[in-house]
Amino acid sequence: MADLSNDFVGIKSPNPFWLASAPPTDKAYNVERAFKAGWGGVVWKTLGEEGPPIVNVNGPRYGAIWGADRRLLGLNNIELITDRDLYINLREIKQVKKDWPDRAMIVSLMVPCEEEAWKRILPLVEETGADGIELNFGCPHGMSERGMGSAVGQVPEYIEMVTRWCKAYTRMPVIVKLTPNITDIRYPARAAHAGGADAVSLINTVSSIVSVNLDTFAPEPEIDGKGSHGGYCGPAVKPIALNMVAEIARDPETAGMPISGIGGVTTWKDAAEFLALGAGNVQVCTAAMTYGFKIVEEMISGLENWMDAKGHRSLNDVIGRATPNVTDWQYLNLNYVAKASINQDACIKCGRCHIACEDTSHQAITSVVDGRRHFEVIEEECVGCNLCVNVCPVENCITMEPLAAGTTDKRTGQKVEKKYANWTEHPNNPSVEAAE
Ligand SMILES: Cc1cc2nc3c(=O)[nH]c(=O)nc-3n(C[C@H](O)[C@H](O)[C@H](O)COP(=O)(O)O)c2cc1C
Ligand code: SF4
Ligand code: SF4
Repeated sequence: MADLSNDFVGIKSPNPFWLASAPPTDKAYNVERAFKAGWGGVVWKTLGEEGPPIVNVNGPRYGAIWGADRRLLGLNNIELITDRDLYINLREIKQVKKDWPDRAMIVSLMVPCEEEAWKRILPLVEETGADGIELNFGCPHGMSERGMGSAVGQVPEYIEMVTRWCKAYTRMPVIVKLTPNITDIRYPARAAHAGGADAVSLINTVSSIVSVNLDTFAPEPEIDGKGSHGGYCGPAVKPIALNMVAEIARDPETAGMPISGIGGVTTWKDAAEFLALGAGNVQVCTAAMTYGFKIVEEMISGLENWMDAKGHRSLNDVIGRATPNVTDWQYLNLNYVAKASINQDACIKCGRCHIACEDTSHQAITSVVDGRRHFEVIEEECVGCNLCVNVCPVENCITMEPLAAGTTDKRTGQKVEKKYANWTEHPNNPSVEAAE
């Protein structure tokens, strides 16, 4: 059986599935049941500094996007950091860590961007016996207007400065949680690295308006006729998160810095993809909020089964395996040629592929042949774009088949070459001409 045990910046957990800082981790009652269900660790719901409790709205704080089957695809929220008393949280963290010593206990923190504020809170957290801290530089609403959360995460100099303070005032590993609401994720990651962060985690939520009520003309979730931008997460944000994880993993300035992957992890496969792109473990929020804590059982058994089937003995056999295969567009092999192919036995003759290719691609799929409804790829026209594969409702009915070297591409009339050739050396590239 594959070994799922995880060592993330020296923090050990029985598996790589941690609950992200959010409502599932905001009290001992939740975290204990999460650990019973099998979660390897938690990042406790973000704590703020001592003082009057945080005030949340008293109406709806969530909005959502659904698929046609009402499956939740994206979740939007306008809630803030914990609204529970700092000392109650700290007491509970200490007790839960004592009761569950083999699980990772990370404490998420967000205090004002002042050295004294960080200096004050860090010893209090250290005293709980927690394994590490995560700096919440990501929250896109509510706290950012007060100069915290993404207001810090969008300024690399602040990230570096606060990370340095934390490294100076605690022995605990420091994980810097990054906001995706930024142009180029490599800059905040580099700043965290420069400040001495042990790791980064990403992504926090994406700034969003999830929908508008067309009767009241208010953004949703609606509070007395008004709405505010919130933070978007769940399956819909996974592609954004995967790309950002890969960007950091392959950036020479941050290569090797541990990454905790977050964003839309719902199945073992999502987790495996994050690991393959360079994440050392994953964190989960929306899937637990949608399906409950027990969803981790399927994540664990699914990952184990896949690793066993593929002969991966430990997570290290998977982590970062896809990173070298992420490249820039100009290095893709332009001599690689593929054509769509339709499995006639699987085809239900719905016609979607024909309409998509006919109206928006290359008019390369028939609809009627010899007076019969028949869908077949016209190789002379197919550019191999993959659109038909993506719109076909039958999985694996249309596949992309590479042409072997030496065969003739009926569209161009040219032989497929074996040698790799990319845009940087292509004769149509103006910079190639300029260099000659
Ligand atoms: C209701 C809600 C509250 C959240 N609160 C926090 C928080 O207090 N601190 C934090 O760092 N992230 C917070 N997050 C963000 C999550 O930790 C996570 O980064 C994000 O939801 C992406 O993961 P997911 O797609 O698995 O949900 C919150 C998310 C949700 C949905
Ligand atoms: S791959 Fe693109 S061009 Fe080829 S048949 Fe499909 S949609 Fe048309
Ligand atoms: S979309 Fe798929 S199922 Fe529908 S006609 Fe095309 S190949 Fe057949």
